[in-house]
Amino acid sequence: MTKKTRNRGFHHVVYACRNSEETRHFYEDLLGMPLVHTEVKNAPDGFFRHLFFDTGDGSCVAFFEVSGVGENPDWSSEVSTGNGLPVWVNHLAFASDEERTETVREQLAAEKIVPLMEVDHGWCHSLYYMDPNGIMVEFCRDTGEFGVDPETALARLDSTDDTDYSTFIQPLDIEGLRGFNLFPEPKGT
Ligand SMILES: [Fe+2]
Repeated sequence: MTKKTRNRGFHHVVYACRNSEETRHFYEDLLGMPLVHTEVKNAPDGFFRHLFFDTGDGSCVAFFEVSGVGENPDWSSEVSTGNGLPVWVNHLAFASDEERTETVREQLAAEKIVPLMEVDHGWCHSLYYMDPNGIMVEFCRDTGEFGVDPETALARLDSTDDTDYSTFIQPLDIEGLRGFNLFPEPKGT
């Protein structure tokens, strides 16, 4: 019989990056997540670099910069738009509070990086940005009851009824979208 154990959160999550230094600047200098570990491995026709940034509790957001390790020539680090999805679908959400969110806003504004969007989800406030790799990052602070309710959650898995009452609390800054369309028309329509 399989022994049940409780999972222990994330150790790291990993994405591909376009450029190690550009990625380090964004996560370490601007967002204050220290680069704590880097591995470099040579391959017969290339190499990879594997970077780890501490997100604040010892868990890491990590990246691979790859060259000649089997990637397609037209590979994309854009986990949503590069995969035919709206930019907000695949994303990274960091836990935040008001002070942290406002510090992030100031730090990024100093480099003229503006939010992609800002949303009141009812149970949380979310400030969203695009990282240098085209990956959306969210700073999410609890503002109400998340609503842990496994029974309802399970029942909704085959529902299409609206339960999302999100409100944009900041008009989208078109400059900040950097060419990304939040709600693109599907191709062929
Ligand atoms: Fe999210």
